[in-house]
Amino acid sequence: MELKERIARELDDARHCSLALLAPLSDDDLVRQHSPLMSPLVWDLAHVGNYEDQWLVRALGAPGLGHRYDETYDAFRHPRRTRASLALLGPKAARAYLGDVRGRALDRLDAAELAPDAAEPLLRGGFVYGMVVQHEHQHDETMLATLQLMSRPGVLPPAPPPPAARPAAVEEVLVPGGPFTMGTDAEPWAYDNERPAHVVDVPAFWIDVTPVTNADFAAFLDDVPDAEPPQFWQRDGDRWARLRFGAVERVPPDEPVQHVSWHQADAYARWRGKRLPTEAEWEKAAAWDPATGRSRRYPWGDDPPTPAHANLGRRHHGPAPVGAYPEGASAVGCLGMLGDVWEWTSSDFRAYPGFSAFPYREYSEVFFGTEYKVLRGGSWATHPAAVRTTFRNWDYPIRRQIFAGFRCARDA
Ligand code: AVJ
Ligand code: FE
Repeated sequence: MELKERIARELDDARHCSLALLAPLSDDDLVRQHSPLMSPLVWDLAHVGNYEDQWLVRALGAPGLGHRYDETYDAFRHPRRTRASLALLGPKAARAYLGDVRGRALDRLDAAELAPDAAEPLLRGGFVYGMVVQHEHQHDETMLATLQLMSRPGVLPPAPPPPAARPAAVEEVLVPGGPFTMGTDAEPWAYDNERPAHVVDVPAFWIDVTPVTNADFAAFLDDVPDAEPPQFWQRDGDRWARLRFGAVERVPPDEPVQHVSWHQADAYARWRGKRLPTEAEWEKAAAWDPATGRSRRYPWGDDPPTPAHANLGRRHHGPAPVGAYPEGASAVGCLGMLGDVWEWTSSDFRAYPGFSAFPYREYSEVFFGTEYKVLRGGSWATHPAAVRTTFRNWDYPIRRQIFAGFRCARDA
């Protein structure tokens, strides 16, 4: 498919995802602040449109809808908990704004010169379109976390159940020591923080084939009286139940545990005599192919994700049981590296050597340091266009409302 056509489709798909996610909600639900940790949903919605107006219209020299909304929808000026008190566009006006911006963005796309050596750096390989598509998907996942915190039955349409568990033959695999290429130069839609590709010499390590399950985590809770349960869990006699999108249900034993903080993940790993993988270990286990020495875009190869490879894109409204996607195995034999749950790593979010902020410092650079931990691999709620083996997410180590779990590693 021609690049422009693919871009137009991806933009359309992202918009369809956002509008469909919010369609079941009343105007009141869209406008209200459901949690101090999250924005009112209508802020996310118009923010997505404002970002598109800034980057796909005005930054490309086309007439946009102007700076009028830039202040209100600037994430840095207004912490999430204060956004309900801003003069926000209402749900109807926000949807109209999104549609208006989109029309202008598509007009500008018609005339865009997207060659890898195009004069405008934003347009090279369609980069800025990829940035905006991924941004909309990222906010969709954030909005879904808001829906989980809202805890309202019927807020998600029915979804098919995930495929069955297939217990892995072994608990862990040994990844041999030696260099591999971390990050990327070649991926046109990769963010600045994934660049540049650089060689990292990783000593040999063991890593679990699958993420830590609910049953594993429950055993830890049984053994360690002051250990904290995952968010949304509650006692049900001598078992665990959980609240999920407004429904109380028995905790399924063989799904990856989710809604745990970095601290809980770290505590579990130490209890098991293991540790969290570093970010480099995670990426090597996911991407490195010992047969060729190359790093893969996806654990299974360079072909884009299909439903046989990974649980992505809100197909099942939750993680699948571990081992459910044998075709998604990485070269070293890890399962579920993409999709199901974001995986906490032991690493702080830092710049790769040779990093250069592009196209703006506030996407990545201002977050570098020791405050944030890196998460990898995407969750069941992550759209396939918004994840790859080099993709880096980050959050505060106390956060639990994101769809995050973890797997363990240990020194060899
Ligand atoms: C990469 C998920 C940490 O949601 O804060 C959204 C993505 N950046 N709008 C976030 C993002 C600007 C970011 N994360
Ligand atoms: Fe944003």
